[in-house]
Amino acid sequence: MGISGTNSCKLASASITTKSSVSGRVNRTRTKPEGTGMGYKQLGTTSEKIPEIGIGTWKMLNEATDVEAIRAAIEHGSSLVDTAEMYGNEELVGEAIKGQENVFIATKVSPHNFRYDDVIRSCDASIRKLGVKQIDLYQLHWPNHSIPIAETMRAMEQLKRDGKIRHIGVSNFDVKELKEAQGSLKSGEIVCNQVEYSILVRDIERGLMDFCKRERITIMAYSPLARGAIFSKKYEQLRVKLESIGENHDKSAAQVALNWLISKPQVVAIPKACSIHHAIENAEAAGWRITPEELSEINRFLSSVRKRPITSIFTPVIKHNGFWSRHMQNKKRAKV
Ligand SMILES: NC(=O)c1ccc[n+]([C@@H]2O[C@H](COP(=O)([O-])OP(=O)(O)OC[C@H]3O[C@@H](n4cnc5c(N)ncnc54)[C@H](OP(=O)(O)O)[C@@H]3O)[C@@H](O)[C@H]2O)c1
Repeated sequence: MGISGTNSCKLASASITTKSSVSGRVNRTRTKPEGTGMGYKQLGTTSEKIPEIGIGTWKMLNEATDVEAIRAAIEHGSSLVDTAEMYGNEELVGEAIKGQENVFIATKVSPHNFRYDDVIRSCDASIRKLGVKQIDLYQLHWPNHSIPIAETMRAMEQLKRDGKIRHIGVSNFDVKELKEAQGSLKSGEIVCNQVEYSILVRDIERGLMDFCKRERITIMAYSPLARGAIFSKKYEQLRVKLESIGENHDKSAAQVALNWLISKPQVVAIPKACSIHHAIENAEAAGWRITPEELSEINRFLSSVRKRPITSIFTPVIKHNGFWSRHMQNKKRAKV
């Protein structure tokens, strides 16, 4: 399904294009019932709107509790659900979205499956596991320089022509990699780049963010709560600052940290929450805004405490993807 409509927290008349989570049903447009205060952002240059806060599912493997958390998020408007073939939980996610009409499902193909036939096979498997007719956003999990991007993108375009995916996205791509990926598409566009971004990890502000802004590529911020580090003893001062700003809005530190992200143009965030309480709290980080003065206050605070930029823990792994790809390919060969 896809979500379209106004970028407003008033959802009473927001138009929602829906897709059933059960294989074989068709897409249709319906009116979303009144209820959540979710805000929406345009996806790339498309006319589609997606929730500014979704839910991430990495490490969710517990059917009973995680399914409930995903459902709670959807019920509260966080109907963008992100998973990946690598997470090994697409069936669990499929269970959570079963019968839910307004879900925007994003999944990813792993770098060791970037050969043409492997991309097609992976997508078919994801569709089957998720129990959907179509994937809304299909993303390359991270670059794999050992397989030509043109070959991978040819498969992505074929999947789109075949109606198996609705939009093409990438993840962990830097500016050069994004340009190459864009250049290898014969038609269509890259609508989204999923990258690590939080109040603590701000690497993308050094060039990538501006590029995405210029090219109108949505930034989907992963690990938006820095994997929970914001709440650790080490960042206590930051938490206290966020809490004090939250008091003005009756919001928590987590909600202010997420709001800081989505207050930037083109940024949506996918916090992971295994607990229902966190899932609802995160959904309620959307549909309102910290003021420009509060934004400046947070930024001033961050520059006063940050001696040097904190870098992503994922970057070294991703940038040495040659090693990772070889490792995964060897594993794959060992299985055959
Ligand atoms: N594309 C990529 O390469 C990539 C890499 C990493 C992650 N991702 C995606 O991004 C998603 C989110 O990132 P992440 O899982 O790394 O980290 P995250 O969302 O930054 O942090 C998750 C942690 O924060 C806690 N939390 C969530 N909401 C909270 C709240 N309101 N108050 C206090 N604590 C809260 C969670 O606890 P509970 O779970 O106990 O609620 C969990 O321990 C992933 O699940 C995945 O979908 C993508």
